[in-house]
Amino acid sequence: MKPASWEGVYRDGRDLYTANRTPGTKVYGEALATAEGVEYRSWDPFRSKLAALLLKGAPPDILGRPRTVLYLGAAHGTTASHLSDLWPEATIFAIEKSPTSFAPLLALARHRPGLVPILADAQLPERYQADVGPVDLLYQDVAQRNQAGIFTENARACLVPGGRGILMLKVRSVTQQRPTAAVVREARAALTAARLKVTFETALTPFSREHVALALVA
Ligand SMILES: C[S@@+](CC[C@H](N)C(=O)[O-])C[C@H]1O[C@@H](n2cnc3c(N)ncnc32)[C@H](O)[C@@H]1O
Repeated sequence: MKPASWEGVYRDGRDLYTANRTPGTKVYGEALATAEGVEYRSWDPFRSKLAALLLKGAPPDILGRPRTVLYLGAAHGTTASHLSDLWPEATIFAIEKSPTSFAPLLALARHRPGLVPILADAQLPERYQADVGPVDLLYQDVAQRNQAGIFTENARACLVPGGRGILMLKVRSVTQQRPTAAVVREARAALTAARLKVTFETALTPFSREHVALALVA
């Protein structure tokens, strides 16, 4: 097990790992590995688009070292659990609108201090803005038509100047008709108009055929 380019992430061959904050416990059936007395959780790029983004050549500073994170579309907490491994001291506000997904997220958070689930619609940041406050990292993974709009509204509400963002753009949720390049171009234009600078872009193939990841700085 060797440190990878991104702080807190480890590599064994081609596989990524994070140090397990709750040793002996899996979150989504991932493999566990122990090296020199430390237990690591395998970070599956087919289950977590963030692991896919790292493997697609994301620069080392793509995530920064946030103290506060706003995560939109946390679902059961697969990716959020790895963020909680990466930054045990950080507060990670995890927004999820589906009550069915929220229940396991809540259960996960019981064993992971700093992970704060909020049952809310990411399209209405004004409902949680006061509870969340300013954040250093905004992460979004919601399959909605207006994904860029949701991102810019949440950035306006919560992201500090100089803060970082990751948008997992599901192209086919925006439109079934237009080509991927046009959808990405439009999303980038909306982000730029909101004074968010795109620093890295990649398709997530072969891990996800439907997503393009965009990294941003406010
Ligand atoms: C692909 S899943 C997220 C997977 C998760 N990010 C991970 O990597 O572990 C998308 C999630 O976004 C949630 N979602 C969709 N629209 C939303 C909205 N407007 N507000 C909050 N959550 C939303 C869905 O309920 C679903 O759980």
